[in-house]
Amino acid sequence: MFEFGRIRFRPVEREDLKILHSWENDFELIMYSRSKPMNFVNMAQLEKQYEEWIKDERELRFIVELADSKEPIGIARLRRGEWANVKTAEVGTYIGKKELWGKGLGKQITVALLEMAFNQLNMDRCEAWSVEYNQRAHKSLETCGFKRGGIMRDAAFINGRKWGAYHFDILRDEYLSLRDDLLKQALGDKLDEYLKKHCTIEGY
Ligand SMILES: CC(C)(COP(=O)(O)OP(=O)(O)OC[C@H]1O[C@@H](n2cnc3c(N)ncnc32)[C@H](O)[C@@H]1OP(=O)(O)O)[C@@H](O)C(=O)NCCC(=O)NCCS
Repeated sequence: MFEFGRIRFRPVEREDLKILHSWENDFELIMYSRSKPMNFVNMAQLEKQYEEWIKDERELRFIVELADSKEPIGIARLRRGEWANVKTAEVGTYIGKKELWGKGLGKQITVALLEMAFNQLNMDRCEAWSVEYNQRAHKSLETCGFKRGGIMRDAAFINGRKWGAYHFDILRDEYLSLRDDLLKQALGDKLDEYLKKHCTIEGY
């Protein structure tokens, strides 16, 4: 488990497929998160995907829960890759409980993913993709230090027209220069507890 302030990250279990089934078939949610809302998935397909996730060692996939109640609120993923001697983590998330959108949880999840990438997995950079109309996600990524790069033009067709997808990235040094502020904002009074647990080893 990776505890991060109000939220915690745990592995996806087979029992979670039921809640994933409702989230992954929510037209609005998938329109924002994956830009292919008509790709409904039944339980058999989800079970097949789950078997693939288990085998894929480059991908870390989590259920995000509220730390206090253990209520699942969404998913987060981090995919490790290496190209030309540079280690990149592609990150992504969605909050399946839509009533929780816009309350700052997305920023917390993103900072937690950056902590995993840079402070635990020693990545050189992180990147994310987001469809042109997903302004909430763009704002959330930019607040966490991601820079918007190029646009992949006409990358998705939804609601009668084509849309571009933006590439976002953040380098290790850029994150480290923002880290103190981002951790303070994300963790508040749980900052010291986090630093003690994840940024030091007792006795060293
Ligand atoms: C994207 C997502 C993870 C963001 O999480 P969130 O908790 O809703 O977002 P946050 O509250 O952390 O931050 C949203 C930011 O966007 C702003 N915002 C909210 N609604 C907005 C809108 N309609 N347009 C533009 N900005 C908006 C907020 O003011 C906030 O900005 P701030 O940092 O200046 O305060 C969440 O909304 C979600 O799961 N959306 C659906 C799936 C998705 O889009 N996944 C990401 C794919 S790349």
